[in-house]
Amino acid sequence: MLKFKSLISRFLAIFFVSTLSVYSQTEGTVITIKSDDNAPVINKHIYGHFAEHLGRCIYDGFFVGDNSEIPNTNGVRNDIVEALKKLQIPNLRWPGGCFADTYHWKDGIGPLDQRPTIVNTWWGGVTEDNSFGTHDFLNMCELLGAEPYLSGNIGSGTVQEFADWVQYTNFAGKSPMSDLRKENGREEPWKVKYWGMGNEAWGCGGNMTAEYYANEYRKYATFVTDWENTGSVVRIASGASSDDYHWTETLMKNVPAKMLEGVALHHYSVIDWNNKGASVEFTEDQYFGTMSEALKMEELVTKHSAIMDKYDPEKKIDLVVDEWGGWYDVEKGSNPGFLYQQNTMRDAVLAGSTLNIFHNHADRVRMANLAQCVNVLQAVILTKEAKMILTPTYHVMEMYKVHQDAKLIPINFVSPLYIYNNKSLPALNVSASKDSKGLVHVSMVNVDSKKANKIEIDMNELGVKSITAKVLTSKTLQDHNSFDNPTKIQPADYKGFEVKKGKLVVTIPPFSVVVVEGK
Ligand code: AHR
Repeated sequence: MLKFKSLISRFLAIFFVSTLSVYSQTEGTVITIKSDDNAPVINKHIYGHFAEHLGRCIYDGFFVGDNSEIPNTNGVRNDIVEALKKLQIPNLRWPGGCFADTYHWKDGIGPLDQRPTIVNTWWGGVTEDNSFGTHDFLNMCELLGAEPYLSGNIGSGTVQEFADWVQYTNFAGKSPMSDLRKENGREEPWKVKYWGMGNEAWGCGGNMTAEYYANEYRKYATFVTDWENTGSVVRIASGASSDDYHWTETLMKNVPAKMLEGVALHHYSVIDWNNKGASVEFTEDQYFGTMSEALKMEELVTKHSAIMDKYDPEKKIDLVVDEWGGWYDVEKGSNPGFLYQQNTMRDAVLAGSTLNIFHNHADRVRMANLAQCVNVLQAVILTKEAKMILTPTYHVMEMYKVHQDAKLIPINFVSPLYIYNNKSLPALNVSASKDSKGLVHVSMVNVDSKKANKIEIDMNELGVKSITAKVLTSKTLQDHNSFDNPTKIQPADYKGFEVKKGKLVVTIPPFSVVVVEGK
């Protein structure tokens, strides 16, 4: 059977630039991966992040103020900037989340001592002093080399306020808002491309119906323009919660395609909103539950994409998963409104699997934002005073960055099963790409909590001569990096593979992530 499939894949290679065949040996399942010239590029913006005015993400996270003893540039921690640059973070979404629809951007510009305070009603009821505002965020994005993605206020703002923000940040010529920007010390516009048209309009963004929001969207989108008619503004509609397909259908049906560049989708991997479970001391049952929710992303992006295809068959409009990740109970002793949680190997498996799903849907999913970047939910970075740690999720994103802007190698894949308590999930997920230098990368995740799985990859048609691999693994699923042991989990060179007659056989340990590079 294996030989037969291999012959088929060789035959297909006559028509395709390159072909990989992948076989899972344990179950005898044959999986074929083929690449073709028409395959999409994996948009680097799938690797976006999210920074809300929530808990310790901005204040006491990114931003410590320029009087801090922690090394900083204009108040932004240098160690965080360095770590995120290493990730090649492509974009950063701000200021929310739910906070976005309470935020009035003019409160966060001008002299610090004249900025009004507001109460952050969504997140802990803390007083926001607006000391971190538009200039701080957009200058920070420049430091990071990341595109800013601003979420505008539709829930409690006005069309004029939103349009003014676009003019303030983007207009080079003379205008009331660009003059104000210059008065505040910034001559050149930042040219912000990505604009969120409100957030979760079905919930914290105004509790609107899909039909009402579609009308609101049309009104706001009329005035959210790039001010210089270069078509460089990407308007992203507030999207569905998980499987609310009616939301996506209503938007696509009622908003003219020329007014819409992206449609959002939010999905959190939560077992039970009333009983989310601990971030570290979780059971296998909870692990299975989290992964069931995470792997649901496959069905969600497939079905939302199918709806978008009906109205936009040329796939001009992006599906933007601008909030995703695991959500657990807050760490004991922390403010319940601050959503501070630890990050374990469970999160590494979740991140690797989700990114594989996004890659394999690169034809429509062109942007995504992990929730959130620092000290909130499935963070890539945690801080405690001057200390900073990189989480297992950070390491997955670092290992996977090789896929950014690489050409997808499509996968036909039937996985063996991870069976737990008479329930099952696909044990393996895989994605592959070829970058501009011709390097092939295959990222593989074994979700199974106990059993190693083997994958056989036929690389004969790819002209691959040498293989290297990295693994992220640990002894227990609950393992994590801590401030006392910050490097317990980190990627390591991996030798758990062998090459037989040009075929690569990789062993993927339980609950681990492996990335293979072929050149
Ligand atoms: O990421 C935390 C919150 O989750 C966001 O503010 C909101 O958009 C979502 O419900």
